Amino acid sequence: MDSLFKYDSVSLNASKDGIVILDQTLLPGKEEFITLRDEYQVRDAIASLKVRGAPAIGVAAAYGLYVAFRNLHPAPVSAEESEREFHRIKAMLLASRPTAVNLAYALKRMEQRFISCRMHPRELQLQSLLEEAESVKTDDMDRCRAIAGHGATLIFRHGMGILTHCNAGHLAVSRYGTALGPIYLAHKNGLSPKVYADETRPLLQGARITAFELMNAGVDVTLICDNMAASLMAAGKIDMVMVGCDRVAANGDTANKIGTFTLAIAARYHRIPFYVLGPESTIDRDCPCGADIPIEIRRDEEVTSLYSGQRTAPEGIKVYNPAFDVTPGELIAGIITENGIYRYPYDFTKPKQQ
Ligand code: MRU
Repeated sequence: MDSLFKYDSVSLNASKDGIVILDQTLLPGKEEFITLRDEYQVRDAIASLKVRGAPAIGVAAAYGLYVAFRNLHPAPVSAEESEREFHRIKAMLLASRPTAVNLAYALKRMEQRFISCRMHPRELQLQSLLEEAESVKTDDMDRCRAIAGHGATLIFRHGMGILTHCNAGHLAVSRYGTALGPIYLAHKNGLSPKVYADETRPLLQGARITAFELMNAGVDVTLICDNMAASLMAAGKIDMVMVGCDRVAANGDTANKIGTFTLAIAARYHRIPFYVLGPESTIDRDCPCGADIPIEIRRDEEVTSLYSGQRTAPEGIKVYNPAFDVTPGELIAGIITENGIYRYPYDFTKPKQQ
């Protein structure tokens, strides 16, 4: 599958003092890479969706914590100062977006690593943190590859119609994607899946990013407005829905990009299987159900204006702009992780059910 992709959306630069990210807000018009060197730049890049997608945010935060800690100037002179600075940077990055649990997961891994080496000399601390950040990324790559393998077992016929929402592809993760991983694998295996990409109002991740990356890889993709999905289902064009996830609660309720819940309801009405794909690190076993998932509320302007900035609603209009919704576990035909396919009723304490 690697040959399908030109680059990763998040990586470390050669001198290991900066994170290089593809600025996803500029897609599809411009493929521009920017280098981030401190906690403010990393926090702002995550909050403004320059880097986005749950696993990619986790990878950016892990590298971000390492880079910001490494670049502290002046460098901390005592263990206490070092610890204080580490936790300050971690807290700042953690606050950048609330819903995707991969952010907290990656930062927690970095924190545990820091605690294990906090009495070591600074050079050794930095080496350990670098190793941990690298392994947050490589672990995610391995998981995405395994998710692609499990998900691809569902794509068994030539030209199957698959609807997806937002962007859960190569650019949203370390490599390959979650929801799009099985599609890339099936494409590579010559099964030519026919993908329908919701444009995904208000920030158009489907139009700007999913359409862009699938086209670049030569996958058959058709762009639709969000409000067209049910009519496509009724027309018999959709065999299955595959979406990513930002946080899965212990009972299988799943937070993903706003509009996912509506799709799941339409899929149930049409008896079309609705699958959620994501790494085990997206399952929040400490979160009992969907009502406990924190939902990010974003700026009014995202709704009152086009992506280009042109205003489309009257000044002063009241706006409600949640970035995610929660799909109840009972509407989900299967949750696909690196460990296989979990089936409803979800119980993540048990080994996966096929
Ligand atoms: O606000 P975004 O663009 O970060 O939202 C992303 C999504 O909702 C994705 O579906 C999710 O993070 C899965 S990414 C593999």
